[in-house]
Amino acid sequence: MIFTVAIDGPAAAGKGTIARAVADSFGFGHLDTGLLYRAVGVQALHDGRGVIDPHWSAELARRLTPEDLARSDLRTARAGQAASKVAVLPEVRAALLDFQKRFARREGGAVLDGRDIGTVICPQAEAKLFVTASDDARAGRRAAELGADPASVLADLRARDARDASRDAAPMVAAADALLLDTTELSIDAAVARAVAYVKDRLPDGAA
Ligand code: C5P
Repeated sequence: MIFTVAIDGPAAAGKGTIARAVADSFGFGHLDTGLLYRAVGVQALHDGRGVIDPHWSAELARRLTPEDLARSDLRTARAGQAASKVAVLPEVRAALLDFQKRFARREGGAVLDGRDIGTVICPQAEAKLFVTASDDARAGRRAAELGADPASVLADLRARDARDASRDAAPMVAAADALLLDTTELSIDAAVARAVAYVKDRLPDGAA
């Protein structure tokens, strides 16, 4: 069966947790597409000694390997900022497009989470969610996860969201046909239950 679940939304809204849970519930593959941009961003920063070179970043994106995605330093705020800087570059996005499109239509079902899954990577996705939460809720959760100061995490998230939403290439925006899921007042379990119920409803008869 080919079935794509596209999960988009701003940083730290709960996309990753929901995506993993949905993938587990239905036995689908899961791709955290932010990791692709994080891996490129971290390497580009390192190679440029703190300065991101657009052409080299695109070359890194073309050469990305599974080992690059397994680095232990991809979850830091620094990696998130670097990711959002290379993510504005059309050449970088183009280099990562085919892999994501193929993953989305893989046999057996796929869940992808990111910023442009329902709009650019897989507009034909059978299920689309746009997951949001208030700035304070997102900053509080991410600060607890990283053991960091909530105020600096909030500033980091806002800077990243602004860059992601205002760029010309595949800006972060909810697809017109996406289910909006605001997780501000929801427990993880409740948010996951809503997402799973929505996906289940959209599966072809007999597949659930
Ligand atoms: O989701 P995550 O916070 O790991 O993403 C890191 C950055 O990668 C985002 O802030 C965004 O700039 C970029 N990104 C993107 N398109 C995606 C996934 C991530 O531009 N599909």
